[in-house]
Amino acid sequence: MRLTLTRPDDWHLHLRDGPALGAVLAHTAERFARAIVMPNLKPPVTTTEAAGAYRARILAALPAGASFEPLMTLYLTESTSPAEIERARASGFVHAVKYYPAGATTHSDAGVHDLARLEATLARMEELDLPLLVHGEVTDPAVDTFDREKVFIERVLAGLVRRYPGLRIVFEHITTREAVEFVAAAGARLAATITPQHLLLNRSALFDGGIRPHNYCLPVLKREHHRLALLAAATGGSPKYFLGTDSAPHARGQKETACGCAGIYSSHAAIELYAEAFESVNALSRLEGFASFHGADFYRLARNSATLTLIREAWTPAPSYPFGADVLVPFRAGSPVAWRLAPAGG
Ligand code: DOR
Ligand code: ZN
Repeated sequence: MRLTLTRPDDWHLHLRDGPALGAVLAHTAERFARAIVMPNLKPPVTTTEAAGAYRARILAALPAGASFEPLMTLYLTESTSPAEIERARASGFVHAVKYYPAGATTHSDAGVHDLARLEATLARMEELDLPLLVHGEVTDPAVDTFDREKVFIERVLAGLVRRYPGLRIVFEHITTREAVEFVAAAGARLAATITPQHLLLNRSALFDGGIRPHNYCLPVLKREHHRLALLAAATGGSPKYFLGTDSAPHARGQKETACGCAGIYSSHAAIELYAEAFESVNALSRLEGFASFHGADFYRLARNSATLTLIREAWTPAPSYPFGADVLVPFRAGSPVAWRLAPAGG
């Protein structure tokens, strides 16, 4: 069986920098026409100028002949000014601003403690129609890790949506039924991305015969009923949900250790994994909307015109890929993925 789609886009991606960027970029460029590139480098990408320089490094790292457009983002800090928002909007290459609650995840220490300090900046984003991308977890240590997304909706997101009625917001990598319900009930300017791992795994995958660091990401995997709610949302045809892998490479040594980093690398098999998830509920006909149309429409960019073909034929991802001086262990390392990419031109 073959499945031909309009070429998809990845609306949430970590590409890193330097040798790591060089190691992972080809996987994304093979599958996706564009990707929203996260700004959580060390130091973070906080200015339009830095985003422009990062964009040039990504373009320089592309394999010969690849056709891929990086869509850049700024990292919101408590000193992001309305003037910086104006520069971002005028650049034509910055497509959104990413809000990390300080301390919520990898490289988020420069993030925001109190959104109330950013009123003028958020108001300018609303005016200039520059979307806000949200890592939706509270950082309050008193809140259980598995409840941090739900509590974020109550404590932060609901108020944000109310205070800035014209601001377009993407609730990134949603993981709970509560997030699905909140997005579904909100207006059209609130959308959400969903990762392959949250469609395919529940939290038991963290402890499958032993602790599984390569299934650890943030927000952490949740219970099965949440996975089913995400799968229903992704495959239900609503334009509010779209593909965002959150593929987040870390060297094996940073994952297989006493305090391992959060992040699952899925770029090597991303669209194939989504095809598996959609097929599991007989919804392959809905994959193109989720992967290729809804995100472009939300970001007000043209839909892609090229196509990509998948074949229902199993293959096995390598146990690891080279990653600078270390290696990277991908999602499904050493075990089969049901769909494969048709060879280029096939
Ligand atoms: O698992 C994650 N990894 N979640 C994030 O929010 C950040 C990401 C990363 O950059 O590694
Ligand atoms: Zn991310």
